[in-house]
Amino acid sequence: MQSEVERLLNAAARDISKTAGNLKVLEQLKVNYLGRKGNLAQLFKRMGEATETQRPVWGKLLNEAKESLEKAFSNALEEAGKLSREQRKFFDITVPGRRPSKGRLHPITQITLEISRIFNWLGFEVVEGPEVELDYYNFEALNIPRDHPARDMQDTFYVSDDVVLRTHTSPLQVRVMEKRRPPIRVIAPGRTYRCDSDVTHTPMFHQVEGLMVGEDISFGDLKGILTIFVHHMFGADVGLRFRPSFFPFTEPSAEVDIQCVMCKGQGCRVCSQTGWLEILGSGMVDPEVFKMVGYDPETVTGFAFGMGIERIAMLKYGIDDLRLFFENDLRFLRQF
Ligand code: DAH
Repeated sequence: MQSEVERLLNAAARDISKTAGNLKVLEQLKVNYLGRKGNLAQLFKRMGEATETQRPVWGKLLNEAKESLEKAFSNALEEAGKLSREQRKFFDITVPGRRPSKGRLHPITQITLEISRIFNWLGFEVVEGPEVELDYYNFEALNIPRDHPARDMQDTFYVSDDVVLRTHTSPLQVRVMEKRRPPIRVIAPGRTYRCDSDVTHTPMFHQVEGLMVGEDISFGDLKGILTIFVHHMFGADVGLRFRPSFFPFTEPSAEVDIQCVMCKGQGCRVCSQTGWLEILGSGMVDPEVFKMVGYDPETVTGFAFGMGIERIAMLKYGIDDLRLFFENDLRFLRQF
């Protein structure tokens, strides 16, 4: 028995040194020697063969062998642990860095911020309002009564009889005027909804509303502010024109066209050969709207405008498919 125990201990010492401090291999080796079915357990089994006099001697030999194996393994494991901690501490400065993938603002957000920056600089404050809106603010107070044909132009999503998803940002005009007294200079960007879906329409899109009210605000102010805006947004050399139009909440009303950004006004497919692109609706606030919010139309005047943000973004970036804004294809979004 003595020589077998010695052989076992020698073999273990040899095997331990062969692991060269590899933690995993060491742990497996420990099981091989000390586990339930390990080499040492095999020797313990032979206690059955021991004679009366051999039994205490073998017992002592085996117990000592067990102790010394346990110590050898725990020393080796501790060493190996230290080694691997050392290795982990080593920092290889030559390994190429991993580039973290950075997020970016959606092009619609970027354009919204750019519009806001321009109007902020002109003294306009940014305000927001609810997307689920009362019929009253979306239509009634904007001089669009229930039987008005202009309601059909808007393809409204109704939540209930008198609650809608706002079809434009114009309700903010009323909400702001209800709460404040002139002078007012605000813009209101946000989501808007219409029951309409094809190549050039999505059920959700974005608008910015603008409102300036005070004493002696004239159509000249409207033209001045919107001209400055267009020149900052599209470039100082881009021409614009004001074309008579109609909206129930403005009188007189005008739509603003800019010279086609693709052909510089020469006429092309994008502008249907006209050289012009419509970018917004505007006008002098209708006296009926002032009456709804308790302003005296004899003493205050003002102008309002509204534009589609996707449209501005498409013209600014030369994008020809509206749906790209909503598909969230990273290959598209990463270009901005
Ligand atoms: N709300 C209009 C629309 O969605 C746009 C608009 C036109 C807003 C004229 C205005 C305005 O404030 O004065 O088509």
